[in-house]
Amino acid sequence: MTARPYWWAVAHEADIPASRPVAVKVGDLALVLFRDGTGAVAALEDRCAHRRAPLSLGVVTAEGLVQCPYHGWRYEGASGKCRAIPNFSAQEKVPGNFGVRPFATRIVDGFVFVWTGDRGNVGNEPSATMDAPTARHARALPCPHAMYAALMLDRPGVLLSIGGIRLLDDFRWGDPRREESAIVSEFGAVWSGKRLDRLPSSPPLTLRVTVAAGTAATHVTLRDEADTMIAAAFLAATPQGAMVTQVRLAGWATDGPRGKPATIGIRPSLDVEAVARTRVAALPDWQALSAV
Ligand code: FES
Repeated sequence: MTARPYWWAVAHEADIPASRPVAVKVGDLALVLFRDGTGAVAALEDRCAHRRAPLSLGVVTAEGLVQCPYHGWRYEGASGKCRAIPNFSAQEKVPGNFGVRPFATRIVDGFVFVWTGDRGNVGNEPSATMDAPTARHARALPCPHAMYAALMLDRPGVLLSIGGIRLLDDFRWGDPRREESAIVSEFGAVWSGKRLDRLPSSPPLTLRVTVAAGTAATHVTLRDEADTMIAAAFLAATPQGAMVTQVRLAGWATDGPRGKPATIGIRPSLDVEAVARTRVAALPDWQALSAV
């Protein structure tokens, strides 16, 4: 799968150390992230211009250049240009056309966003609208990117867990609908702990799931009857080849009614039976919107 030109949230910023490059993928596009001499996070194509070794297996030098593990060529984050070749003499200059493709990056709300298109023609600035999360998670899901979008729009409780809350995937407030460049689904939810023999006619809590076209970046909010927000999350989903989707979550949740510490996160494994029950009703709408 070729990465489409979007802002993709490819990492939690806190996961990018100063001394080591980090490999990330968006579809078939392999990128190396590292901190340059100013501490900013840079993104380059993860393939050395010399013999194509992955730069992510190298190191970050004291000057903030990423150094190839094979023969030691060193690259600058801002331009992608090769700035040093170890076996050159002091008189030899690195040709200006030696380099790898650089990508535009932004740090927003603790996420590293990479624009996978032309650096000189970036789209609207990215936003996660999640500036004070209490939880951050990352998990590789064994499903295609489009299936992730379908699950979040049709059966979000398969992926998402909120402490003290039972998400009612079978109670939907209306059909999924388009809102600008996203598809929105709303579900009922209840405080857990009560025995539930059948679905309530009017659940006290509402889970709203908004899945953006293309990237499937997902905003989730949970509100009570007074319309007070009691949990929220942003989930960034990046395809990793055909059958794996990397999901990174940042979120918060208020403590439950019994004072239990709140938790919000991605479930450790997929419930295969629940996945099989997913209606994928919203998927055609999401795919059509993504193709625009
Ligand atoms: S392959 Fe990278 S320096 Fe040779």
